[in-house]
This record gives sequence, structure tokens and C-alpha cells, in this order.
Amino acid sequence: MKHHVKDIWNADLYDGNHSFVSKFGSHLLELLSPVEGEQILDVGCGTGDLANKIYQYGTYVTGVDKSENMVQQANNKYPDITFMAKDVLELEYKNTFDAVFSNATLHWVKQPEEALQHIYNSLKPGGRFVAEFGGKDNVQIITNEMIHQVKQAGISYTPEQFPWYFPSIGEYTTLMEQIGFNVTFAQHFDRPTPLEGDKGLRNWMKMFCGNIFENQPAAVQEHVMIQVENNLKEALYQNGQWVADYKRLRVVGVKKS
Ligand code: BEZ
Repeated sequence: MKHHVKDIWNADLYDGNHSFVSKFGSHLLELLSPVEGEQILDVGCGTGDLANKIYQYGTYVTGVDKSENMVQQANNKYPDITFMAKDVLELEYKNTFDAVFSNATLHWVKQPEEALQHIYNSLKPGGRFVAEFGGKDNVQIITNEMIHQVKQAGISYTPEQFPWYFPSIGEYTTLMEQIGFNVTFAQHFDRPTPLEGDKGLRNWMKMFCGNIFENQPAAVQEHVMIQVENNLKEALYQNGQWVADYKRLRVVGVKKS
């Protein structure tokens, strides 16, 4: 992340409360099937847990993440792996990697064609792109209620403030094909995601939804979060636990040789 842009990522909070992100990512590793000796780029490596799993297969891994906080933590945890603070849109690799892997990252990039182009350029001909991120209607129950409560509180909200890109299978695979990928796999599925503890939903909103609050005073944010918690308890609080309505998109594309 560039110095003039605020780094919203708290690496300790991420490793503490949101470690489920990399735990769920293990299934994506099976789809990647790393092979010893391969050069693999992990886009949005966070604090490095999945990059380290890929490294354990005997591959050469490079992890990039926009957040310097995350990269610093990744370097501390896994000093044998190369990590760099870099946005996907800043990648300048050409025909370098056998595979590009990305978990829970690409929904943060609201210029998907550009991101795909940088990923495509980074791959060797015949190289594969294996990714999972938020798909159409991801966390919609939560964000609809948040936006409703923000408006109820008299705060202006415009759709540009929505922090994420959550495409359908049709939309994203069409973009992949336009860039030049052969799409060999695509799946859109529900993945109800437990948020740890009584404060799970609140922690999630605090961690990820800054844009929706847009720098409102703490008391206003508190009010909105209480309303959201009250109104979603019936839908999303199950057996003593908050469960977020995650929907994932998983894709595999191969760069034409
Ligand atoms: C996701 O992984 O789908 C996600 C994470 C944080 C905010 C929104 C979506």
C-alpha cells in the first residue's frame, strides 16, 4: 500500500479474529494442486498462511499484498518466503509464473478487467489462475441492513461507497474470456461463515465496513451497529453464534499457450 493511502488492515486482528479466511482457503489449495519446483504468485497474501502452505509443496512462492501491515507480519512469520507490498494493479511481471493464486482478495479490486490483465500478463503461457472471492449477493443480508440503518441515521450513502466487487459467474467468466483465459472451472456457492463470539458481527463490521460508515463519529457508528445487530439477530444468530451470509465465486482459468 502506498504511504499516502491509509492502511486499514490490522494484521493482529486479522490473525486473531479472521483466521477463518485462510482456513477456508485450504480447499482452494486442492484446486491449485501446487507441483514441486513451480513458480507461484499469491495475490492478496495477507499474513502469509496460505503462501506458506503453497511453499510446503516445494514451490517458489512470491506473496504480494496491498497492505504493508500484512506484509510485515507475513515476513515476520515466514522469513523464507518472499513477500512484497504491492497492489495487483501494480504488478509488472511478464510470463513469469506457472500459477497465480488468490484467496479472498479480488472482491476488493473494483477494476476487475485491469486486475485480470495484470494476472494474465504475470502467467507463463499455459499457466493457471486459481481464485476464490466474494460472488454475487455476498454478505447481502448484512450490507443491506447496514446501508438501511446508515440512511435511517440521516447519513448520506451512495453506491460508490460500497467497498466491494461481487460478480456473478456469468459476468466474471466473460471478463476472463475477454482477457484471453480458457475458463476450465467456475462455481458460485453459499458458504455460511461463523463469526467468532458474541461480538462477531460487530467485529466484522468494524474490520471491513469503514467505507459504508464514511468517517462518522464513533457514537453514530455504534448506533448503526446496535440496530444492525438487533435486526439481524433472528436471521443470522444461530446456536449462540453469528453466521455471515458469505457467497463465494471460485474460478480456474488457463492462459492460452
Ligand atoms: C469476503 O471474504 O467475502 C468478504 C470479506 C470482507 C468483506 C466483505 C467480503
